[in-house]
Amino acid sequence: MASGKFTYLSYRRHRICNPLSFELLERVLNYADLRTGDTAFDLGCGNAVIATWLAERLGLNVKAVERFESVAELARATADASEGPGAIEVVVDAAAPFLERAGACRLLLAIGTVNLFPDAREPLEAFARLKRSIEPGGYLLWGDPFWRRPPSDRLRAVFANERYQTHAGYVAAGEAAGLTPVYAGVSTEADWDDYSWRMNASVEDWITENPADPEAGAFQAQIAMMRALYLEEVRQGMGFGLYLFRVPANRAG
Ligand SMILES: C[S@@+](CC[C@H](N)C(=O)[O-])C[C@H]1O[C@@H](n2cnc3c(N)ncnc32)[C@H](O)[C@@H]1O
Repeated sequence: MASGKFTYLSYRRHRICNPLSFELLERVLNYADLRTGDTAFDLGCGNAVIATWLAERLGLNVKAVERFESVAELARATADASEGPGAIEVVVDAAAPFLERAGACRLLLAIGTVNLFPDAREPLEAFARLKRSIEPGGYLLWGDPFWRRPPSDRLRAVFANERYQTHAGYVAAGEAAGLTPVYAGVSTEADWDDYSWRMNASVEDWITENPADPEAGAFQAQIAMMRALYLEEVRQGMGFGLYLFRVPANRAG
């Protein structure tokens, strides 16, 4: 669904907009040598809850990039309430043009961010491109669903097959892109259930409150499809991984 409205409704009641806990985020980032004042780019920041956590807990200065204005509004509200010590700047843009002008950062995050580079769908290609925007010795934190088992035709039709990997496949793709795998963690089933049912409840409530809205029918069909897919296939067939890679300090090019 191209509109930002469904994305906004899906995520308005989430804190982290992925099947991911702060406990896992912290556990993985404990393995990154980050200092107060380091710069981070959070590509596809959603409501900027993670960006704000990075600014508050780690003192990072974060550029939080979001393609949809309606979602960026949520991000600004979160960021404005933060007392630092790090700073958060919300940037409304797609990730690729942002990176072209942004220079390099110490920590680059892409957590559940689809279509980072429309012409580079496989993680290996995306990792190789993202690496150019990270300082030598800096880090990529990548979060995405992974295949627990070969996907059914139905899952393939909804989630582009080549975009996702197995858990081992993401680590291998990072290595093939010249990144050093540092740590990887996997979300729990409870994280997935919470993520999916929060989304469902938010959209269903909006439909109940706005039955005459011209988009209500399409949103009802979309959330019903997502609910069935989650219960029948995603819950068994997909996990969610968080992968920390380091850019070699002496990298060439
Ligand atoms: C699943 S949400 C995750 C948000 C956040 N990373 C988190 O984990 O809480 C993905 C967000 O990325 C945004 N997004 C997806 N692709 C993007 C792109 N290419 N450039 C900028 N934002 C993008 C979406 O609009 C959405 O708000």
